[in-house]
Amino acid sequence: MRNPAPVNPASVIPEPVIPKLVIGGREYLRFTRLNRVLHVIMIVTFMSLALTGMTLKFSYTPWAVILSHLFGGFESAGYIHRVAATLMIATFVTHLVDLVRRKRKDFRSWRAMIFGKDTMMFTRKDLAEFLGSMKWFLGAGSRPQYGRWTYWEKFDYFAVFWGMMVIGSTGLMLWFPELFTLVLPGWLINVATIIHSDEALLAVGFIFTVHFFNTHLRPEKFPMDIVIFSGRMDVDELREDKPAEYEDLVQTGKLEDHLVEPYPPIVIRTIRIFGWTALCVGFSIVLWIIYAMIFAYR
Ligand code: HEM
Repeated sequence: MRNPAPVNPASVIPEPVIPKLVIGGREYLRFTRLNRVLHVIMIVTFMSLALTGMTLKFSYTPWAVILSHLFGGFESAGYIHRVAATLMIATFVTHLVDLVRRKRKDFRSWRAMIFGKDTMMFTRKDLAEFLGSMKWFLGAGSRPQYGRWTYWEKFDYFAVFWGMMVIGSTGLMLWFPELFTLVLPGWLINVATIIHSDEALLAVGFIFTVHFFNTHLRPEKFPMDIVIFSGRMDVDELREDKPAEYEDLVQTGKLEDHLVEPYPPIVIRTIRIFGWTALCVGFSIVLWIIYAMIFAYR
Protein backbone atom coordinates (compact mmCIF):
# COMPACT_ATOMS: atom_id res chain seq x y z
CA MET A 1 0.00 0.00 0.00
CA ARG A 2 1.27 3.48 -0.84
CA ASN A 3 1.91 5.90 2.00
CA PRO A 4 -0.24 9.06 1.86
CA ALA A 5 1.62 12.12 0.55
CA PRO A 6 3.16 14.19 3.37
CA VAL A 7 1.12 17.27 4.26
CA ASN A 8 2.88 20.59 4.36
CA PRO A 9 1.69 22.15 7.67
CA ALA A 10 1.88 25.66 6.17
CA SER A 11 -0.75 24.72 3.53
CA VAL A 12 -3.38 23.58 6.05
CA ILE A 13 -6.02 26.27 6.69
CA PRO A 14 -6.57 26.35 10.45
CA GLU A 15 -10.12 25.90 11.82
CA PRO A 16 -11.34 29.08 13.56
CA VAL A 17 -10.54 28.64 17.25
CA ILE A 18 -13.51 29.34 19.49
CA PRO A 19 -12.41 29.70 23.10
CA LYS A 20 -13.93 27.21 25.55
CA LEU A 21 -16.41 28.98 27.79
CA VAL A 22 -17.30 28.36 31.39
CA ILE A 23 -21.09 28.27 31.30
CA GLY A 24 -21.82 27.07 34.85
CA GLY A 25 -25.10 25.25 34.15
CA ARG A 26 -26.65 28.34 32.60
CA GLU A 27 -28.59 28.41 29.34
CA TYR A 28 -28.80 30.72 26.35
CA LEU A 29 -31.84 33.03 26.34
CA ARG A 30 -33.22 33.08 22.80
CA PHE A 31 -36.66 34.69 23.30
CA THR A 32 -37.78 37.55 25.56
CA ARG A 33 -40.62 37.00 28.02
CA LEU A 34 -42.97 39.17 25.95
CA ASN A 35 -42.29 37.15 22.79
CA ARG A 36 -42.99 33.91 24.65
CA VAL A 37 -46.22 35.19 26.19
CA LEU A 38 -47.39 36.50 22.81
CA HIS A 39 -46.62 33.16 21.18
CA VAL A 40 -48.61 31.26 23.81
CA ILE A 41 -51.61 33.60 23.35
CA MET A 42 -51.22 33.20 19.58
CA ILE A 43 -51.33 29.39 19.95
CA VAL A 44 -54.39 29.43 22.23
CA THR A 45 -56.31 31.93 20.08
CA PHE A 46 -55.33 30.20 16.81
CA MET A 47 -56.45 26.80 18.13
CA SER A 48 -59.72 28.31 19.39
CA LEU A 49 -60.33 30.06 16.06
CA ALA A 50 -59.49 26.91 14.10
CA LEU A 51 -61.76 24.69 16.25
CA THR A 52 -64.73 27.08 16.32
CA GLY A 53 -64.24 28.14 12.67
CA MET A 54 -64.06 24.54 11.40
CA THR A 55 -67.11 23.68 13.51
CA LEU A 56 -69.03 26.40 11.64
CA LYS A 57 -67.57 25.50 8.24
CA PHE A 58 -68.25 21.75 8.53
CA SER A 59 -71.43 22.15 10.61
CA TYR A 60 -73.11 19.33 8.61
CA THR A 61 -70.62 16.66 9.81
CA PRO A 62 -71.20 14.53 12.96
CA TRP A 63 -67.84 15.74 14.37
CA ALA A 64 -68.89 19.38 14.15
CA VAL A 65 -72.15 18.60 15.97
CA ILE A 66 -70.20 16.96 18.83
CA LEU A 67 -67.78 19.92 19.01
CA SER A 68 -70.63 22.45 18.87
CA HIS A 69 -72.02 20.89 22.10
CA LEU A 70 -68.63 21.54 23.75
CA PHE A 71 -68.87 25.21 22.73
CA GLY A 72 -72.51 25.53 23.89
CA GLY A 73 -74.06 25.39 20.40
CA PHE A 74 -73.22 26.77 16.95
CA GLU A 75 -74.21 30.32 17.86
CA SER A 76 -71.96 30.43 20.88
CA ALA A 77 -69.13 28.87 18.78
CA GLY A 78 -69.49 32.04 16.69
CA TYR A 79 -69.18 34.22 19.83
CA ILE A 80 -66.11 32.32 21.05
CA HIS A 81 -64.65 32.80 17.55
CA ARG A 82 -65.11 36.59 17.84
CA VAL A 83 -63.55 36.76 21.33
CA ALA A 84 -60.52 34.72 20.18
CA ALA A 85 -60.24 36.90 17.05
CA THR A 86 -60.17 40.07 19.19
CA LEU A 87 -57.41 38.59 21.36
CA MET A 88 -55.41 37.52 18.31
CA ILE A 89 -55.62 40.98 16.74
CA ALA A 90 -54.56 42.49 20.11
CA THR A 91 -51.56 40.11 20.19
CA PHE A 92 -50.55 41.17 16.70
CA VAL A 93 -50.87 44.89 17.55
CA THR A 94 -48.83 44.36 20.77
CA HIS A 95 -46.06 42.81 18.68
CA LEU A 96 -46.07 45.82 16.32
CA VAL A 97 -45.90 48.22 19.30
CA ASP A 98 -43.01 46.16 20.71
CA LEU A 99 -41.17 46.49 17.38
CA VAL A 100 -41.50 50.29 17.60
CA ARG A 101 -40.22 50.18 21.21
CA ARG A 102 -37.24 48.00 20.22
CA LYS A 103 -36.40 50.25 17.32
CA ARG A 104 -36.27 53.27 19.69
CA LYS A 105 -34.23 51.39 22.31
CA ASP A 106 -31.74 49.32 20.25
CA PHE A 107 -31.52 50.88 16.78
CA ARG A 108 -30.96 54.35 15.43
CA SER A 109 -33.37 54.00 12.49
CA TRP A 110 -35.89 51.62 10.89
CA ARG A 111 -33.33 51.03 8.16
CA ALA A 112 -30.76 49.83 10.73
CA MET A 113 -33.36 47.56 12.33
CA ILE A 114 -34.89 46.15 9.16
CA PHE A 115 -31.66 45.63 7.21
CA GLY A 116 -29.29 45.03 10.15
CA LYS A 117 -27.28 41.90 10.97
CA ASP A 118 -30.05 39.81 12.58
CA THR A 119 -32.78 41.03 10.25
CA MET A 120 -36.04 39.14 9.75
CA MET A 121 -35.98 40.21 6.09
CA PHE A 122 -34.92 37.71 3.44
CA THR A 123 -31.33 38.29 2.32
CA ARG A 124 -28.89 36.72 -0.12
CA LYS A 125 -27.56 34.64 2.77
CA ASP A 126 -31.02 33.05 3.12
CA LEU A 127 -31.01 32.11 -0.55
CA ALA A 128 -27.52 30.58 -0.15
CA GLU A 129 -28.66 28.70 2.98
CA PHE A 130 -31.80 27.49 1.22
CA LEU A 131 -29.75 26.09 -1.68
CA GLY A 132 -27.18 24.73 0.79
CA SER A 133 -29.98 22.99 2.72
CA MET A 134 -31.30 21.36 -0.46
CA LYS A 135 -27.81 20.01 -1.17
CA TRP A 136 -27.49 18.84 2.43
CA PHE A 137 -30.87 17.02 2.25
CA LEU A 138 -29.60 15.23 -0.87
CA GLY A 139 -26.31 14.31 0.80
CA ALA A 140 -24.37 16.57 -1.59
CA GLY A 141 -23.12 19.06 1.00
CA SER A 142 -22.76 19.81 4.68
CA ARG A 143 -25.32 21.49 6.96
CA PRO A 144 -25.31 25.26 6.35
CA GLN A 145 -23.95 27.48 9.14
CA TYR A 146 -27.36 28.87 10.12
CA GLY A 147 -27.43 32.14 12.07
CA ARG A 148 -29.91 33.86 14.38
CA TRP A 149 -32.90 33.31 12.02
CA THR A 150 -33.11 30.60 9.38
CA TYR A 151 -34.98 31.11 6.09
CA TRP A 152 -37.87 28.87 7.24
CA GLU A 153 -38.22 30.79 10.53
CA LYS A 154 -38.44 34.04 8.55
CA PHE A 155 -41.05 32.48 6.26
CA ASP A 156 -43.15 31.36 9.27
CA TYR A 157 -42.85 34.84 10.80
CA PHE A 158 -44.13 36.60 7.68
CA ALA A 159 -46.87 34.00 7.19
CA VAL A 160 -48.49 35.52 10.29
CA PHE A 161 -48.41 39.01 8.71
CA TRP A 162 -49.97 37.69 5.49
CA GLY A 163 -52.52 35.65 7.48
CA MET A 164 -53.48 38.63 9.63
CA MET A 165 -54.03 40.79 6.54
CA VAL A 166 -56.12 38.23 4.66
CA ILE A 167 -57.95 36.34 7.45
CA GLY A 168 -58.20 39.36 9.76
CA SER A 169 -59.61 41.78 7.17
CA THR A 170 -62.11 39.28 5.72
CA GLY A 171 -63.08 38.17 9.26
CA LEU A 172 -63.85 41.79 10.18
CA MET A 173 -65.99 42.06 7.02
CA LEU A 174 -67.99 39.00 8.13
CA TRP A 175 -68.30 40.46 11.63
CA PHE A 176 -69.40 43.97 10.59
CA PRO A 177 -71.04 43.58 7.14
CA GLU A 178 -73.29 46.65 7.55
CA LEU A 179 -70.28 48.86 8.25
CA PHE A 180 -68.23 47.57 5.30
CA THR A 181 -71.12 47.70 2.82
CA LEU A 182 -71.45 51.43 3.50
CA VAL A 183 -68.48 51.76 1.13
CA LEU A 184 -68.12 48.33 -0.55
CA PRO A 185 -70.56 46.42 -2.81
CA GLY A 186 -72.61 43.72 -1.02
CA TRP A 187 -71.27 40.86 -3.16
CA LEU A 188 -67.83 41.41 -1.59
CA ILE A 189 -69.17 39.92 1.66
CA ASN A 190 -69.76 36.64 -0.21
CA VAL A 191 -66.24 36.83 -1.62
CA ALA A 192 -64.90 37.59 1.89
CA THR A 193 -66.63 34.44 3.21
CA ILE A 194 -64.94 32.27 0.56
CA ILE A 195 -61.52 33.88 1.10
CA HIS A 196 -61.79 33.71 4.90
CA SER A 197 -62.89 30.11 4.84
CA ASP A 198 -60.30 28.87 2.32
CA GLU A 199 -57.41 30.91 3.75
CA ALA A 200 -58.33 29.42 7.15
CA LEU A 201 -57.94 25.91 5.68
CA LEU A 202 -54.59 26.91 4.21
CA ALA A 203 -53.40 28.46 7.49
CA VAL A 204 -54.48 25.47 9.57
CA GLY A 205 -52.98 23.02 7.06
CA PHE A 206 -49.69 24.97 6.99
CA ILE A 207 -49.31 25.54 10.74
CA PHE A 208 -50.20 22.00 11.81
CA THR A 209 -48.01 20.27 9.22
CA VAL A 210 -45.14 22.40 7.82
CA HIS A 211 -44.65 24.64 10.89
CA PHE A 212 -44.96 21.70 13.29
CA PHE A 213 -42.48 19.72 11.22
CA ASN A 214 -39.95 22.57 10.93
CA THR A 215 -40.00 23.35 14.62
CA HIS A 216 -40.66 20.06 16.39
CA LEU A 217 -40.44 17.04 14.13
CA ARG A 218 -37.13 17.52 12.30
CA PRO A 219 -34.54 15.05 13.57
CA GLU A 220 -32.54 17.65 15.58
CA LYS A 221 -35.63 18.64 17.59
CA PHE A 222 -37.87 15.58 17.65
CA PRO A 223 -40.26 15.09 19.43
CA MET A 224 -40.64 18.70 20.59
CA ASP A 225 -38.65 21.93 20.86
CA ILE A 226 -39.77 23.91 23.90
CA VAL A 227 -37.53 26.95 23.31
CA ILE A 228 -40.47 29.19 22.33
CA PHE A 229 -42.07 28.49 25.74
CA SER A 230 -39.02 28.41 28.02
CA GLY A 231 -37.07 30.96 25.96
CA ARG A 232 -33.94 28.99 26.90
CA MET A 233 -31.76 26.53 25.04
CA ASP A 234 -28.68 24.58 25.93
CA VAL A 235 -25.48 26.32 24.81
CA ASP A 236 -24.27 23.12 23.09
CA GLU A 237 -27.59 23.00 21.24
CA LEU A 238 -27.10 26.61 20.13
CA ARG A 239 -23.60 25.76 18.90
CA GLU A 240 -24.92 22.86 16.82
CA ASP A 241 -28.20 24.38 15.65
CA LYS A 242 -27.12 27.98 14.92
CA PRO A 243 -23.31 27.80 14.55
CA ALA A 244 -22.98 31.26 12.92
CA GLU A 245 -24.95 32.90 15.76
CA TYR A 246 -22.89 31.05 18.37
CA GLU A 247 -19.60 32.05 16.75
CA ASP A 248 -20.69 35.67 16.47
CA LEU A 249 -21.73 35.79 20.15
CA VAL A 250 -18.45 34.26 21.27
CA GLN A 251 -16.30 36.48 19.09
CA THR A 252 -18.07 39.69 20.14
CA GLY A 253 -17.94 38.54 23.79
CA LYS A 254 -21.75 38.83 24.10
CA LEU A 255 -22.61 35.22 24.93
CA GLU A 256 -22.21 35.81 28.69
CA ASP A 257 -24.82 38.62 28.54
CA HIS A 258 -27.41 36.15 27.20
CA LEU A 259 -26.90 33.40 29.76
CA VAL A 260 -29.63 32.79 32.35
CA GLU A 261 -30.48 30.20 34.99
CA PRO A 262 -32.55 27.24 33.70
CA TYR A 263 -36.17 26.83 34.81
CA PRO A 264 -36.92 24.28 37.57
CA PRO A 265 -38.18 20.83 36.39
CA ILE A 266 -41.82 21.55 37.38
CA VAL A 267 -41.94 24.52 34.96
CA ILE A 268 -40.41 22.41 32.18
CA ARG A 269 -42.96 19.63 32.86
CA THR A 270 -45.85 22.13 32.68
CA ILE A 271 -44.46 23.52 29.42
CA ARG A 272 -44.21 20.01 27.97
CA ILE A 273 -47.83 19.23 28.90
CA PHE A 274 -48.97 22.46 27.19
CA GLY A 275 -46.79 21.73 24.14
CA TRP A 276 -48.03 18.16 23.75
CA THR A 277 -51.65 19.30 24.13
CA ALA A 278 -51.15 21.89 21.38
CA LEU A 279 -49.46 19.32 19.10
CA CYS A 280 -52.25 16.77 19.65
CA VAL A 281 -55.06 19.31 19.08
CA GLY A 282 -53.29 20.56 15.94
CA PHE A 283 -52.80 17.09 14.43
CA SER A 284 -56.40 16.16 15.30
CA ILE A 285 -57.70 19.24 13.47
CA VAL A 286 -55.67 18.28 10.38
CA LEU A 287 -57.08 14.73 10.47
CA TRP A 288 -60.58 16.14 10.90
CA ILE A 289 -60.15 18.50 7.93
CA ILE A 290 -58.83 15.65 5.73
CA TYR A 291 -61.81 13.50 6.75
CA ALA A 292 -64.28 16.34 6.10
CA MET A 293 -62.72 17.21 2.72
CA ILE A 294 -62.69 13.60 1.46
CA PHE A 295 -65.93 12.20 2.83
CA ALA A 296 -68.23 15.10 3.63
CA TYR A 297 -67.28 18.24 1.65
CA ARG A 298 -70.22 20.11 0.14
C1 HEM B 1 -58.22 37.08 13.46
C2 HEM B 1 -59.30 37.56 12.98
C3 HEM B 1 -60.56 36.80 12.66
C4 HEM B 1 -61.79 37.35 12.65
C5 HEM B 1 -62.12 38.81 12.94
C6 HEM B 1 -62.72 36.31 12.29
C7 HEM B 1 -64.09 36.48 12.18
C8 HEM B 1 -64.99 35.54 11.73
C9 HEM B 1 -66.40 35.70 11.68
C10 HEM B 1 -67.16 36.93 12.15
C11 HEM B 1 -66.93 34.56 11.17
C12 HEM B 1 -68.41 34.23 10.97
C13 HEM B 1 -68.84 33.49 12.23
C14 HEM B 1 -70.31 33.18 12.29
O1 HEM B 1 -70.88 32.88 11.24
O2 HEM B 1 -70.83 33.19 13.41
C15 HEM B 1 -65.84 33.66 10.90
C16 HEM B 1 -65.96 32.41 10.34
C17 HEM B 1 -64.92 31.53 10.18
N1 HEM B 1 -63.62 31.71 10.59
FE1 HEM B 1 -62.84 33.42 11.34
N2 HEM B 1 -62.05 35.13 12.09
C18 HEM B 1 -60.71 35.38 12.32
C19 HEM B 1 -59.67 34.47 12.26
C20 HEM B 1 -59.84 33.14 11.89
C21 HEM B 1 -58.78 32.14 11.88
C22 HEM B 1 -57.34 32.40 12.33
C23 HEM B 1 -59.32 30.98 11.43
C24 HEM B 1 -58.71 29.63 11.25
C25 HEM B 1 -57.51 29.32 11.48
C26 HEM B 1 -60.72 31.26 11.11
C27 HEM B 1 -61.59 30.33 10.58
C28 HEM B 1 -62.90 30.58 10.28
C29 HEM B 1 -63.77 29.64 9.60
C30 HEM B 1 -63.35 28.28 9.05
C31 HEM B 1 -65.04 30.23 9.54
C32 HEM B 1 -66.28 29.62 8.93
C33 HEM B 1 -66.39 30.11 7.50
C34 HEM B 1 -67.53 29.40 6.77
O3 HEM B 1 -68.65 29.44 7.29
O4 HEM B 1 -67.25 28.85 5.71
N3 HEM B 1 -60.99 32.56 11.42
N4 HEM B 1 -64.66 34.28 11.26
